[in-house]
Amino acid sequence: MTHDETDPIAASGVRRQSQVEIEFRNATKRYPGQEAPAISNLSFTIPAGVICCLVGPSGGGKTTTMMLVNRLIDLTDGDILIGGASVRSANTTELRRAIGYVIQQIGLFPHMTIAGNIAVVPKLLGWPRARIRERVLELLNLVQLDRSYAGRYPAQLSGGQQQRIGLARALAVDPPLMLMDEPFGALDPITRSALQDEFLKLQERINKTVIFVTHDIDEAIKMGDRIAVLREGGILAQFGTADDLLAHPVDDYVADFVGADRGLKRLSLRRMRDIVHPDPSLEAKPNVPTISADASLRVGLSRLFTTDASAVRVTENDGTTLGAVTLDELREAVAAHRRTDGAP
Ligand SMILES: Nc1ncnc2c1ncn2[C@@H]1O[C@H](COP(=O)(O)OP(=O)(O)O)[C@@H](O)[C@H]1O
Ligand SMILES: [Mg+2]
Repeated sequence: MTHDETDPIAASGVRRQSQVEIEFRNATKRYPGQEAPAISNLSFTIPAGVICCLVGPSGGGKTTTMMLVNRLIDLTDGDILIGGASVRSANTTELRRAIGYVIQQIGLFPHMTIAGNIAVVPKLLGWPRARIRERVLELLNLVQLDRSYAGRYPAQLSGGQQQRIGLARALAVDPPLMLMDEPFGALDPITRSALQDEFLKLQERINKTVIFVTHDIDEAIKMGDRIAVLREGGILAQFGTADDLLAHPVDDYVADFVGADRGLKRLSLRRMRDIVHPDPSLEAKPNVPTISADASLRVGLSRLFTTDASAVRVTENDGTTLGAVTLDELREAVAAHRRTDGAP
């Protein structure tokens, strides 16, 4: 893509960068007429190019936090810096166009075609028609929909397909920052899981800074390079990687939130390839169950429990054997963090 004077990011005062850091600095929002703030003194920094999941209870201030970033609402106190620039001094119209926004309700315009929906912001910016057309096709390809969808209407698409269009629309002008508010929350579990996988794959290519709201801790663990846990009243309970939260929850609230099975969840963060070792004796054991090197330790453990084997063969994607992992080694992986942090 080329960027020119119709580039909203440059126009918004957010510096044109392929990636931006976002810093919350004592961000506080009190709605008029409400006694308690919806979010209170939020301070944390999301490094550029990572997905930060924002989790917390319903009414915990997640949507409020998102709307403060693109200034659909204004801060009461504190600041939010995008690539070092305060949202307070940004031009709000330009800022909103410069930030991709995906919401659970999708919000496609029903009377507009898919192409029209995707092209909303480029049209507002006066891009030439040929460039818009090219970008629409590029985006359909990016979200894995055939170009024949361009002429259809939203009602002719499934929920999952509509959400793909919502994502394509948010990516239209290639914003460095994406806000995703429970984007997959309304989808059935299978579609949801597929879209999660697709988005993670896409993110490897597009490397956006993403704030991803969910109330589902498992989705946060899967999607988030960082996780910010909010508690009632929009107060930050903990900010860290999934492994930080699972291994060292700061208090009972976070420990409850991540779940009593956090030891097992932590196993899902590690791959079989992380602990596999060469085992020449596998040659003589053709019946040992086989598992991919990219499978999690949790899946490996499950495989051992559902077969009678005491070890699994770990293979590379091309089928070559890397070695074995035994039940004892998996137990040790659990025990290793039980020793350091007392996780169940
Ligand atoms: N426009 C508003 N006016 C007054 N209170 C609001 C408004 N929007 C949200 N709230 C309140 O702010 C709190 C946080 O809401 P919200 O950010 O939507 O939470 P979440 O997205 O985590 O469910 C809730 O108590 C909610 O009732
Ligand atoms: Mg919400």
